Amino acid sequence: MRAADIQADLDRVLVTDEQIQEKLAELAARVDADYAGKDVLLVGVLKGAIMVMADFARHLTIDAPMDWMAVSSYGASTKSSGVVQIRKDLDTPLEGKHVLVVEDIIDSGLTLSWLLDHFGTRGAASIEVLTAFRKPDAMKVDIDAKYVGFDIPNEFVIGYGLDYAERYRGLRDVAVLAPHVYQ
Ligand code: XMP
Ligand code: MG
Repeated sequence: MRAADIQADLDRVLVTDEQIQEKLAELAARVDADYAGKDVLLVGVLKGAIMVMADFARHLTIDAPMDWMAVSSYGASTKSSGVVQIRKDLDTPLEGKHVLVVEDIIDSGLTLSWLLDHFGTRGAASIEVLTAFRKPDAMKVDIDAKYVGFDIPNEFVIGYGLDYAERYRGLRDVAVLAPHVYQ
């Protein structure tokens, strides 16, 4: 896809690459302090969280293993169904681990709420959430995320790992998708 075509699909940039990196460095400093000396496990939710995980983990100074889970609740739509399917489970047992779930975005919160309930049954010592983005006006369930990058308006966004029908994940900035793309 040509750069000019991608630009035409964007309504406006919400958060730039630079702002994201600065925020992740701040969050990493907090996590470094909070998890010093603890057996931490970063759990990324595929595929949206790949960029956040890659950047956040490199801002950390503690050595934190990563594991990945793949779930799906959206299909090719822009709204969460709340029906979550595990497509790939973790490789690591959570028993005794301090789990930090690394997410791209909390939208309705339905996916994460399901995941947290599910992880709660696996014997983790603690479970916290780090998310790059959150849409407070879209949340349908209350999720107490300890580390939040940016609160954003209730619009469908793409870039920095976030996709629409698997496109736009590689954009460095996060932008609002122009409605003509999905209407
Ligand atoms: P929920 O609504 O369950 O969201 O909190 C679950 C997952 O859906 C993806 N998601 C988005 N992807 N733009 C995207 O490209 C968005 O605005 C958006 N909102 C949700 C994301 O992977 C999230 O973890
Ligand atoms: Mg997605």
